[in-house]
Order: sequence, then structure tokens, then C-alpha cells
Amino acid sequence: MFRTHTNGDLTLENLNENVTLAGWVQTIRDKGFMIWIDLRDRYGITQLVFDQDRSSVQLMEEAKKLGREFVIQVEGKVIERTSKNPKIPTGDIEILVENLKVLNESQLPPFTIEDETDGGEEIRMKYRYLDIRRNPVKDKLIFRHKMAQKVRNYLSQQDFIEVETPVLIKSTPEGARDFVVPSRMNPGQFYALPQSPQTFKQLLMVGGIDRYFQIVKCFRDEDLRADRQPEFTQIDCEMAFVEQEDVLEIFEGMTATLLKDITGKDTGKFPRMTYDEAMTRYGNDKPDIRFGMEFTELNDLVKGKDFKIFDDAELVVGINTEGCAAYTRKQIDALIDWVKRPQIGATGMVWVKYQDDGVLTSSVNKFYDEASLKQIAEKFNAKPGDLMLVLSGDAFQVRTQLSALRMELGNRLGLRKGDEFAPLWVVDFPLLEWDDETGRYHAMHHPFTSPKPEDIHLLQTDPGKARANAYDLVLNGNEIGGGSVRIFDKELQSRMFDLLGFTKEEAEAQFGFLMNAFKYGAPPHAGLAFGFDRLVAILDGNEVIRDYIAFPKNNSGRDVMIDAPSAIANEQLQELFLKLDGDH
Ligand code: AMO
Repeated sequence: MFRTHTNGDLTLENLNENVTLAGWVQTIRDKGFMIWIDLRDRYGITQLVFDQDRSSVQLMEEAKKLGREFVIQVEGKVIERTSKNPKIPTGDIEILVENLKVLNESQLPPFTIEDETDGGEEIRMKYRYLDIRRNPVKDKLIFRHKMAQKVRNYLSQQDFIEVETPVLIKSTPEGARDFVVPSRMNPGQFYALPQSPQTFKQLLMVGGIDRYFQIVKCFRDEDLRADRQPEFTQIDCEMAFVEQEDVLEIFEGMTATLLKDITGKDTGKFPRMTYDEAMTRYGNDKPDIRFGMEFTELNDLVKGKDFKIFDDAELVVGINTEGCAAYTRKQIDALIDWVKRPQIGATGMVWVKYQDDGVLTSSVNKFYDEASLKQIAEKFNAKPGDLMLVLSGDAFQVRTQLSALRMELGNRLGLRKGDEFAPLWVVDFPLLEWDDETGRYHAMHHPFTSPKPEDIHLLQTDPGKARANAYDLVLNGNEIGGGSVRIFDKELQSRMFDLLGFTKEEAEAQFGFLMNAFKYGAPPHAGLAFGFDRLVAILDGNEVIRDYIAFPKNNSGRDVMIDAPSAIANEQLQELFLKLDGDH
């Protein structure tokens, strides 16, 4: 037997047993006459001891030759430790080693493989397999596995079946660029990697698989952020013979089950908010509702007082930061600089202080007297000690800027607590969004999303106003899932393609297969997809999804460990017909 126990197993109950262990040498403490070694494996750490008085000379010599990260196998006896370590399960015992076998040597690792490491991000990514030996990384992978297992159990119990869909497909429009793969057997032609299995899951509905799911890799060539990777995982789901309400219920149930498992608490019914309401109250379609600081609109109070900036603005809107009136001029100036950074783009910020003594002052005292400030403070529901921060400008832009400020202050003031969970459905998204650059409408979700039946008439008259039966699931200010009721009528689908600027030929070439399938009895259907990496990270109190992916890409989309992407050989290019004539 290679090992009788793992390194997380042994306690005083095993006293005097002869055991065999294997693992990596984490630390060596060599006092000359005694050597202690922490032996690590996936399950924990067990202390080994070599003692001049109790071990042979040869064994002591062998032990002295060990180095960090050597892989060893030891046989020995479980004995009680004199100085115990209450922090680890095996902390009461150690192994008096009788036999030592080096299974493999190791070079000195480029960083220390302990919970707190001296290795920076870049080096740990290059040696990710060493990083994975560390508890903080390994535990996240285990957490991810457990979540996947729970998802599979929940959905299987609800009669969903997991069906695999192909990876070499044709473009699916989810709003990002495609990664493409050249076809050797079809010169000059390319597959696209799926941005999601959207069209396939709809075809499965036509195929009668009325409850489908898949934990599936998706690929999107887009700019990367902490919550985005070029390849990521979805829990992709679709249901037939359902309405929006059925979908929300099933997936609220799934999310609540996961939350209950983690927190031990029932979340209760998830609140719902329309897109319009979310934008007005939080300036954002994925509000973090763990804290207040809701928007207060001031147009009716501040206009017409000769303050040109407010007079010219489409929207004047602010937030009340409770208890922050004591901020110094310097602190406020720093906040103003923060909103003026190009990433946020505000031109300036007005503040109103409600001092502890009840006096109101502001950065625009010239235009607003004490009585006006009082009205403003009342609108904010502010009390002495509060600081009101106000932005103005184009309505959409100013909401986006103020929303960024709200989130920043939420972070700085410790209001975004990792162990608190506030799920929320955002519903009734607009069907289309106008793109100034291309001068046409884009589907806000995707082209297969159904308009609200009562808004279908707007498609002819005022398409921008039409709302969709589309919904997002938001958790702690992150979009963790999104979906919609689908169009299943081929006439309506072809009108949608028309609105989105596809010619009949383009629509036929790109989506003919789907339109064709809709001719053969497509059932009403709806679905959604969770971002699995995001869901896992947030449930674990984190927002950086890279930490929950075994081998992630960096911010430039590179895998620095395997050094991909990389150039390919000329012969390979030629074989794929990618080499242009005259290219050398
Ligand atoms: P959507 O595009 O909203 O919908 O994607 C669903 C969820 O996937 C996650 N997500 C990402 N996670 C990490 N990295 C990325 N680059 C990334 N992009 C998206 C988000 C998002 O909510 N086919 C539709 C679903 C449907 O209509 O059923 C779709 O893909 O958490």
C-alpha cells in the first residue's frame, strides 16, 4: 500500500499505530540532533520527526538531504507531540519516522508554497501547478467542485438532463467577438467556438428535451476584467412549455439552495425590480442591494437658481453618505478627483454637508441659500452628520458615474460584506439598444429574446421603447445569470432579424437552421444561463473569478504557463490554407 493514511487523518486515536504516509516536504526544521518536517498533501499536514536518540545514523543522514517540495514516503509510529498545534487537526501527534524513501527530488520552488506566499501573481501563474498545492488555491477548486455537484443534483432532481452540445460551431451572437478555428478539410472556412450554446439548446427544445442543462465552457473574445475570462463556464439551462415565472421559480430555488448550504440561512423570496427602477434607484442594472445609498434626483429643487451646470444638465442626482460629514476638505477633494478620472469621467462633483451642529454648507453656497440646502437635505432624508454628493449631466452617463461612486464608497465604508448575500431579479429589460457607432439597433440580450406581448406593437412604431421578457439574476452587485423567454414563431423571429439590420439572405445564412427548425412545431420555451465562475466566486465571498479557475488566462488573454497563444509552423498554416500567396 502506498499510504495507509492521508496527511490530514491522524489524531491521538491512532497513537502507537504504524503508518505509511506520502506527500511533499513543506518545511524542514533541522536542530542537528532532531529534525522536524511538515509533510503536506491535499488533505493536510502531518509533522514527521527524526531523532538522533531514536533513529539510526543513516536515517538522520537521509533526512538531512531532503529539500523543500521533495516527494517522499515514510513509515513510522504515531506518537504524542510535546508541543501541540491546536490550529491543525493532526496537531496533537507526530510520526517518529522509521523508514524514509525519496520518491522524487524537487528543485527549489520559485515561491514558498504556504498559505501566505512570497510569490507575486505573475510567477504564481507561470507555475500554477505549484500554486495549486497551496491551500487558498486548492480550497477554491474544491469549493467549485462542490458547487458543481450541488447544481447537478438539484437540476437532476427537477428532471433536467445534461446534454453536451458541440464546440466547433457557427457564430452565436452574444455580443462579443468569436474565437474561430480554421477547417483543414474545408479550405478557407472556419468554425466559431460557442459564445454560448444558445441556438443548440433551443434546438433541443424543438427536439422535445423539455428540461436541459449543461455545465459548459463558453468562449468570448472581449476585453477582460476581474469578472471576465475569454473562456469561462456557464450553467446553461432551457425549459419548454413554461412561462417566465416558471423559469424564475426553478432557478431562484437552485440559488436559494446553494445559499442555504453555505450560510445555513433561508434567503426568503428574492426581491424583483424592473430594469427602469434599478437604473433610477441605483444607476445600474445590477445593483448591490446589501447597502442603501439610493439615488435622489434633484432636478425639481436645483434648477433655475443661476447655477449653469445644473441648469444645463439633463439630470442632477446624488447619494447620501451617512455619517461622512466629518470628511475633510482634502478627503472630499480626493473623492472629486476619483470621479474625474477618465475611467469614471465626471466633470466635477457638488457636495452638501449636514454638520453635526445642524448647519448646512455646500460647495455651491453661492447659488443655494440655507433654505434651499434644507430642502435638498430633506429630499435626501439626510440627518446631521451626513454628506451628500451630487453629480449632473446626461442622464445615462451621470447615473453610470454615480453608480461607480456608490460602489466605491460601499467598498471603502465596508458596506459590501463578503459573508452577506443579497440576490435580486432584474426584469423587463429593454428589447433593443441603439448603437450610435453602427447607427442601428442591437439586441440587448440576444436576437432570440421575445418582446413582451403587450409591447410587440411598438416594434413598428417605437422599437427602442419595447421591453423584453428578459431577466438577470444579480448577487451582491454582480450579474450572475441572465436569460429570457424566446421567440418560437418564425414570423416574429424574422421580424426581429429585420429590425436588427440583417438582410433576408444574411439571416438565412446565419440562422437558417433555427428558422427551419421553427417550421416543425417549436414549443414555447425559455431559459437562462448562470456564469458559473462568477457564481462560485461570489458564493465564496470573492469577486475575482480567476482564483476559481484551475488554469486561468491573464488580463491580456494569455496563459503564461503554457505560453499560449503562440505562433504556429508554416506547414501548419499552409495545411489550413492560412498562408497567403507570396507570404514567406
Ligand atoms: P449571457 O451573455 O448573459 O447570456 O451570459 C450568461 C452569464 O454568463 C456570465 N458571463 C461571463 N462570465 C465570465 N466571463 C465572461 N467573459 C462572461 N460572459 C458572460 C455572466 C452572465 O450573466 N445564452 C444566454 C443565456 C440565455 O439566454 O439563456 C447567455 O449566454 O454571469
